[in-house]
Amino acid sequence: MSDRRLTLGILVSGRGSNLAAIVSAIAAGILPATVGVVLSSKKEASALQKAGDSPAYFVDPAGYADRAEYDGALVSLLKAHGVDLVVLAGYMRWVTPVLIEAYRHRIINIHPSLLPAFPGLRAQRQALEHGAKVTGCTVHFVDETADQGPIIAQTAVPILEGDTESVLSERILHEEHPLLLSAISHVAAGRLRITGRVVSVGGMP
Ligand code: GRF
Repeated sequence: MSDRRLTLGILVSGRGSNLAAIVSAIAAGILPATVGVVLSSKKEASALQKAGDSPAYFVDPAGYADRAEYDGALVSLLKAHGVDLVVLAGYMRWVTPVLIEAYRHRIINIHPSLLPAFPGLRAQRQALEHGAKVTGCTVHFVDETADQGPIIAQTAVPILEGDTESVLSERILHEEHPLLLSAISHVAAGRLRITGRVVSVGGMP
């Protein structure tokens, strides 16, 4: 993957600020990648408006018998657009082995906690309710486990007295964008090595 621009397939379901950060970084010439396609599981996702010049489609889950069939349709679209790396950027569905096997070690996710703490939905609220003093964000490879795939990079974020879910979410989001861009850059440069579940950032291959 290191000798050419990486083609990204971005899966979204909502606001799309991570997608917008990717599109801006590519436009600014600081991320050596191309957005091949953006696919949304939600028709009303504002992320669909943040794809820049790249194609963006709503793929309606209601049109498929089950999750595996839906993921099969995603794989067909991702392949048709020449996608090398799939980025889950606020994608609100669990992925099935159909997608995972088609893109083994080539799917990454951004999650708003320091995994393995607080997986699943509303991670920021989970951290607040737990009384944690530090949380953060994680970029990890996606495998068959729920939010527990090999960790690529993390940034810690303090929880301050009086934080609400939205204030904390905003503070974490501010750290998510550079973390995700950095992880994509590492993949693009072929710098990541996976041994078991440990990811190391090496030099140039
Ligand atoms: C982010 O907090 C991300 O960590 C989580 O969903 C949110 C997506 O935000 N998986 P956006 O749609 O990229 O603005």
